[in-house]
Amino acid sequence: MLRLSDIKQMRSENITQSDDYPLMDKTDEIKRLLDTFDKYIIASKTNVNGIITYVSRAFEDASGYSREELIGKPHNIVRHQDMPKEIFDGMWKTIQSRNTWSGEIKNRTKDGNFYWIKTTVSPDIDSKNNIVGYKEVCENITSAKAYEELSKTLENRVLQEIIKNNEKTAYMLHQSRLAQMGEMISMIAHQWRQPLASISAISGTLSLDVMMHNYKEEFFQERLNAIGELSQYLSQTINDFRNFFKKDKIVEKANVKDIIESCLHVIDLSLKSKNIDVIIIIDEDIVLESYVNELKQVILNILKNAGDALLEKSTQKATIWLSSYQKESKVYILIEDNAGGVPDEIIDKIFDPYFSTKEAKDGAGLGLYMSKTIIKEHCKGKLEVHNSERGAKFIIELPLNILEC
Ligand SMILES: Nc1ncnc2c1ncn2[C@@H]1O[C@H](COP(=O)(O)OP(=O)(O)OP(=O)(O)O)[C@@H](O)[C@H]1O
Ligand SMILES: [Mg+2]
Repeated sequence: MLRLSDIKQMRSENITQSDDYPLMDKTDEIKRLLDTFDKYIIASKTNVNGIITYVSRAFEDASGYSREELIGKPHNIVRHQDMPKEIFDGMWKTIQSRNTWSGEIKNRTKDGNFYWIKTTVSPDIDSKNNIVGYKEVCENITSAKAYEELSKTLENRVLQEIIKNNEKTAYMLHQSRLAQMGEMISMIAHQWRQPLASISAISGTLSLDVMMHNYKEEFFQERLNAIGELSQYLSQTINDFRNFFKKDKIVEKANVKDIIESCLHVIDLSLKSKNIDVIIIIDEDIVLESYVNELKQVILNILKNAGDALLEKSTQKATIWLSSYQKESKVYILIEDNAGGVPDEIIDKIFDPYFSTKEAKDGAGLGLYMSKTIIKEHCKGKLEVHNSERGAKFIIELPLNILEC
């Protein structure tokens, strides 16, 4: 940056140096330089009390005040109310102790607008080593500041959009979870129907025996044990269902076969009631570290969809194939049905939120959206669908150990 002192020095050098230029040319050159300085550099001088004694033309242009309006006025005529007082206190302290102060300042223009400067303020010291005033040379950085503010605002807006989006996804997941809970109730009904019927039949037999005075202790004990086992089964079912909706999202180590079997515990009877066979082809020893409960919800969603499709198409020999294998550090879980597949015209949309062809049956269209979110965002994997020659084939790809991703 060109400083007053530099120009003074240039001037003195030009005047005293003896070179080939005639004196007139040198004076013109200096005049041109000073003129350029005056025009482009925002500069000012004050006395020791901060009263303006000089301003450049660039100062006038930036502030909107004329030289006449400025000379004799305190320099704080251009102070903007946004600038904290402490900044100026610090500046005064520095320059009064004969040091140079630099910083960015927002100034006020005559018409109430503002401009930003990057300024260097230093004391003017005379030959007797007294401070006789202060001088400042500045660069107008209003555009740079505007750009900075703009990018800050943009950054903020992007951040807010991300937060909004995350909230929306969380809300949708919640909605989908509620819908799934509703479905669970109908699955519990399937699970419970048969054992409840058995308990009722056993207790009927026992009452009859009592009525007929046909009481045999051993037989009685056997039946009571059966009721006990059935009750245990009912209570286990409740646990299985509750586990699905545990809120805590934790990484667990689990065998893929166990994961799939625990899903089948929940949905198996509901599928059987629709005459759907389930065939499992899984390596025994694939052990996975992931968000197991969330993964179970995904598998359950896909199984539920397969069940719906098979029922809708009234497929003969309705079957769901569940298979899994490991390839290097990835685990693949495949769920295929023989309901004819997802129609080509909708296959690109089925993972979209609220896309459903089951509106009449209260399908929310969130099952697959939620499943994809869980697999992609939480489990760091992929969820895809293809149509095979028999039906839809959903492929879940997962890292063997999510903690190593
Ligand atoms: N196995 C499948 N075979 C054929 N179409 C399927 C299959 N699975 C899903 N679809 C299609 O994908 C759509 C979206 O499925 P998704 O699970 O997201 O929503 P939904 O089942 O309609 O409603 P819900 O929110 O209750 O799950 C379904 O409506 C259906 O048209
Ligand atoms: Mg669904």
